Amino acid sequence: MQRLLAGNWKMNGLHAALAEIRALTRAFVKEHPPASLLICPPATLIAEAVAAAGGSPIAIGGQDCHALPSGAYTGNISAEMLRDAGATFVIVGHSERRHYHGETNLAVAAKAKAARRAGLTAILCVGENETDRDAGRALAVVTTQLKSSIPEDSTAADLVVAYEPVWAIGTGRNATSAQIGEMHEAVREALAARFGEAGRKIRILYGGSVKPENAKEILETPNVDGALIGGASLKASDFLAIVRACPVR
Ligand code: PGA
Repeated sequence: MQRLLAGNWKMNGLHAALAEIRALTRAFVKEHPPASLLICPPATLIAEAVAAAGGSPIAIGGQDCHALPSGAYTGNISAEMLRDAGATFVIVGHSERRHYHGETNLAVAAKAKAARRAGLTAILCVGENETDRDAGRALAVVTTQLKSSIPEDSTAADLVVAYEPVWAIGTGRNATSAQIGEMHEAVREALAARFGEAGRKIRILYGGSVKPENAKEILETPNVDGALIGGASLKASDFLAIVRACPVR
């Protein structure tokens, strides 16, 4: 399957940041990217980002969604609203949501289910923290998160998994290729156990301090089907450099 390179802008980006999407659009109308491309700007910019990416292969996604389609949930945004604004993907269960908003596996599963209901592909994030890694629990923590965050009725076709070790997010610290390879293999086996052969076609992204300098090595690791990129997705020049470093499949 084609790799997916996804930018997660987090709570960054005013109107002026749309210029970065326009710069990417200009590059990719001339150049055929070696991977599927996605940018997840803040919700306030989704509709305009969709317009700015028009005519290019860049998809636009949300960073989170509520489990329900509508209702009295002040400040929340539903998967249907994201879809209505032109998004085709949504990130669910990012470690910052799990940490700052207390999202449990159960809550994340409900969000992934909402994504499917609205016709969005969910990018389901899992990842251990430093204490778990140091205690030798990383594989157990991640496989448990995975099993409990995938909704019952999920199909392989509407799911992407992102492995993001919490200690590597925004820290400049990378997991080694060996650590990434070991975890991605465990995730792959868990997905195959759950979905059979179709589980072998689910894209497993790596995230955590992916940059132009380390992207090639990370993306060449077995079972790494793309990357979820935070800081280095904010500037078109960095994101472009990562896309250009991506090996063709
Ligand atoms: P980072 O963030 O690339 O800035 O480490 C990745 C993420 O949190 O998705």
